Amino acid sequence: MTRTVRIALIGLGHVGRAFLELMTVKRRVLRRRYGLELVLVGVADSTGVAFGDGRIDHANVLRRKRRGLGAGEYPRLGHRGVPAVEMVRQVNADVVLDASPVDLRTGQPGLDCDRAALESGIPVVLANKAPVVLAYRELMDLAQAHQTALRFSATVCGALPVVNMGQRDWTACEIQRVEGVLNSTTNYILSAMEQGRSFPKALAEAQSEGVAEADPSLDIKGWDTASKLVIIANAVLGIPATLEDVDVLGIQHITPDDLAAARARGQTIKLVAVAHRADDEYRLSVHPAALPLDHPLASVMGWEMGIVWHTDIMGVQFAKVDERGPMPTAAAMLRDVVSLYEGVA
Ligand SMILES: NC(=O)c1ccc[n+]([C@@H]2O[C@H](COP(=O)([O-])OP(=O)(O)OC[C@H]3O[C@@H](n4cnc5c(N)ncnc54)[C@H](OP(=O)(O)O)[C@@H]3O)[C@@H](O)[C@H]2O)c1
Repeated sequence: MTRTVRIALIGLGHVGRAFLELMTVKRRVLRRRYGLELVLVGVADSTGVAFGDGRIDHANVLRRKRRGLGAGEYPRLGHRGVPAVEMVRQVNADVVLDASPVDLRTGQPGLDCDRAALESGIPVVLANKAPVVLAYRELMDLAQAHQTALRFSATVCGALPVVNMGQRDWTACEIQRVEGVLNSTTNYILSAMEQGRSFPKALAEAQSEGVAEADPSLDIKGWDTASKLVIIANAVLGIPATLEDVDVLGIQHITPDDLAAARARGQTIKLVAVAHRADDEYRLSVHPAALPLDHPLASVMGWEMGIVWHTDIMGVQFAKVDERGPMPTAAAMLRDVVSLYEGVA
């Protein structure tokens, strides 16, 4: 038996478009392995929304988007200038996907869309970190009150299952310390500068891959890393941390000379997020750190991201991922969608 899952997608940028690609390339696997058929019923981007009574041809949305035609211009179903939240309120969807831009001040436009979906009992899957960073407790409470779910494994290191590992696998553990290289854009820039490229050239290369935030200062000044640390703190460590609780310094002042000097000392500089437990409290920080070359995070190069968990009874565990482009993040959203139906189809 195949279960149809109606998808409403907010954001048709790098991640949203990669998700639409997955709907085609993974269609057979989803049907065969999980008994699921994903159909698109609504989309939103900066031009407006498109939705109607039934399905929208996701491949056509993708083709049109590549030609510069947005959701609001979609034939018959498009509504130019209508905000995404209206689509969420009216569309007949089983899951809302939030791949809209990150706004760490307001959480919008995603936050209101996510609230509206949860209030209607519709599960939400996010790649957009901002709603989770700004309103984790509120959204979790809404999901619980309306007997639905919030999934956000894509918000921390894309496809690396940081949240899943942290929530599922550290049974009965105390986490004494978490250290992570959680932002591939800054890691790529540091690795490229270590190889002699200038900061602007390295940043331009990162942007051309579609991984850097639309506003790259979020990456460079450490706020993207801090956001991921706040999500780990709330979702895994169980502390109601906000961005204000994180001591943040980015890589904007690191020069190729600093990196060369570190190398000469047998070290490498990484932008490291740390949650360190002392006296039953976690101290949260994001700083460029000179790591000895035998530190696990020193091996996290270029597009890689990695995390080290120091536990009391499960040892020290290190995981890393090499991911390029937005596809792994879209794949993590797909993982979350499938997880909603595990054992149901
Ligand atoms: N790229 C990655 O590898 C990656 C990895 C992890 C997490 N994320 C997160 O995933 C989200 C999407 O990233 P992205 O790289 O796909 O961003 P992006 O390429 O900048 O795309 C953003 C999309 O949101 C649409 N949009 C803008 N304003 C909107 C509004 N008011 N209402 C509805 N849609 C609106 C844009 O519309 P137009 O197309 O009309 O401009 C665009 O389609 C972000 O929150 C990002 O932090 C991205």
